[in-house]
Amino acid sequence: MIKVSPSILAANFLNLQQELDKIKTADYLHIDVMDGHFVPNITFGFPLLEALNRVDTLPLDVHLMISDPSRYVDRFMDFGARIIAVHIEAETHLHRLLERIKSRSVEAFVALNPHTPVNALESILPFLDGVLVMTVNPGFTGQKFISLAAEKIRQLDSIRREKGLSYQLAVDGGINLNTAPTVVEYGADILVMGAAIFRSDSPKEVIEKVKELKR
Ligand code: DX5
Ligand code: ZN
Repeated sequence: MIKVSPSILAANFLNLQQELDKIKTADYLHIDVMDGHFVPNITFGFPLLEALNRVDTLPLDVHLMISDPSRYVDRFMDFGARIIAVHIEAETHLHRLLERIKSRSVEAFVALNPHTPVNALESILPFLDGVLVMTVNPGFTGQKFISLAAEKIRQLDSIRREKGLSYQLAVDGGINLNTAPTVVEYGADILVMGAAIFRSDSPKEVIEKVKELKR
């Protein structure tokens, strides 16, 4: 079954609790951490995670769009992250970092910017719990889906089958009810959705429709 991870970046921060109530039927809560350095935007960090960790939320899916993620991953894990996605473009010692994440039984995902080819991951694929394929240039919610980048899901799905690997495929950026069927057909397992959920009149219905999609 397809999993949905609503991106809190698109939520109304003045009513966060109400926003969280709208997405109870989703599978994860996607947290976009941006540092104004790796991406041209600054969002939120530890205080938000700490607050979410104190209430009963969906499992946290933390997407780190920060330079030098190894400096901070431990703290994100301390605040209860279930998944941590680090960008391959942001880390020199990726294998070491992934081992550190996995040693704490947190799921280690690697994110790929739209321009980064699948073969950059080749030697590390067997270590991964998942790949996060970006279908927008990271930084903002509500951007247009880049279909060329989505092709990578198809590539990663066939490598997974050929090599008998079990990493999950997540996709992030411009996913809505029009683009979701395509990425599901390509092999995506987890769909991150910001604007399409939080800016919809019926988030619950959107989540339901996506979860019903079949490959
Ligand atoms: C973009 C973020 C996304 C974003 C998705 O940099 O990583 O998670 O919030 O938002 P939508 O679904 O609106 O493109
Ligand atoms: Zn994201």
